[in-house]
Amino acid sequence: MKILVTGGAGFIASHVADAYLKEGHDVIVVDNLSTGKKDHVSHNVRFYHSSIESPEVFQILEKEKPDLVNHHAAQIDVRKSVENPCYDAGVNIVGSLNLFEAARKSGVKKFVFASTGGAIYGEQDAYPADESHRTDPQSPYGIAKLSVEKYLQFYFWTYGIPFVCLRYANVYGPRQNAHGEAGVVAIFTEKLLKGETPVIYGDGTQTRDYVFVEDVAACNLEALKEGVKGIFNVGTGIETDVNTLAGHLLQLTSSDIKIPHAPAKPGEQKRSVLKPGVLQKDSPLSLQAGLTKTVEWFRSRC
Ligand SMILES: NC(=O)c1ccc[n+]([C@@H]2O[C@H](COP(=O)([O-])OP(=O)(O)OC[C@H]3O[C@@H](n4cnc5c(N)ncnc54)[C@H](O)[C@@H]3O)[C@@H](O)[C@H]2O)c1
Repeated sequence: MKILVTGGAGFIASHVADAYLKEGHDVIVVDNLSTGKKDHVSHNVRFYHSSIESPEVFQILEKEKPDLVNHHAAQIDVRKSVENPCYDAGVNIVGSLNLFEAARKSGVKKFVFASTGGAIYGEQDAYPADESHRTDPQSPYGIAKLSVEKYLQFYFWTYGIPFVCLRYANVYGPRQNAHGEAGVVAIFTEKLLKGETPVIYGDGTQTRDYVFVEDVAACNLEALKEGVKGIFNVGTGIETDVNTLAGHLLQLTSSDIKIPHAPAKPGEQKRSVLKPGVLQKDSPLSLQAGLTKTVEWFRSRC
C-alpha cells in the first residue's frame, strides 16, 4: 500500500513509518521539521520538507496519489494552545483540512488520525475511560483534536472515505523530544542522565496512562486493515502517578538526586487513564520494560 505519513520526522510517526516500511509498504513523509528531526526518517521513505498548511500539499498528494493518509503532524504543546488558540487552530484544524482536501482530491481511500484520549475526555467520570466516555476537552489543543475527528466524520458522510481515529494516552519511548512540554518521561530521563535535577509540579499524585510507542505503532498497523474504521483508544488501563514514575526513572538511571516539588500548574488534569481499545491485539508492554528500553536509548545518545 502507498501511505503518506504526516509528521513522520517526529517521535511517534517516525516509529509508525518504520513499522509500515517493515511490512513492505511504500511510505512518503511530509514534515516541516518544526519539532521533528530528519535523522528520524528512514532512507527508504520519500521525504517532503513541507507544511500541511501549505498549498504545496496539493501538488504532493496529486503527484504521489497515496492509498492512505496517516495524519500525525500537529502543534502538540497544550500550553501553547492555551496561550495562542489561533495558532493552534491554524495548524491543527485548518492545516488538517488543507491536507484532507488535498487527499480527497487525489483519490485517497482512507484516513488514520492521531487523536488524544487524555485531552479529549477531560476530567473523567469513569476510570479507565472507554471510547463512549463523554468528550469534554479543556484546552484548545483538545478542542482541535475533537474538531478534526468530527471533520473526518464529515469526509466519511460526504465522500465515503473511511477513517480511524486513535485516541492515544501518554506516549513515551525512544526519539521523544526532551525539550518540549509534552513528554515527562523524556524530560526526566534526559535530565537525570545528565546529572541535572527535574521538577515535579504539585504533589506528584496526578496520574497518567503511559503507553510505549511501539504498542502505538502496532495499532497504526492494525488501522490499515480492510474494514477497520472508527474511534479507538490506545492506552494501558493502568494509572501511574508522577512520584512513582520518577521513582522508576531514578532507579533505572542509577541516580540519587532528590527531586524537588514546585507549585502545581493551574488547570492541570488530576487523573487520566484509558481502557485499551480493541485494536490493541497484544497486552501493552509493562511500564518497567518500556522505561528500561527508553532509558537505554537516551543513555546511548548522552
Ligand atoms: N506524545 C503523546 O503522548 C501524544 C498523545 C496524544 C496524541 N498525540 C499526537 O500524536 C501526534 C505526534 O505527536 P508526537 O508526540 O510524536 O510529537 P512530535 O512533535 O514529535 O511530532 C509532530 C511532528 O509533526 C511535525 N509538524 C508540526 N507541524 C507541522 C506542519 N504544520 N506541517 C508538517 N509537519 C508538522 C513536526 O515537525 C514533528 O515532526 C500529534 O498529532 C500529537 O497531537 C501525541
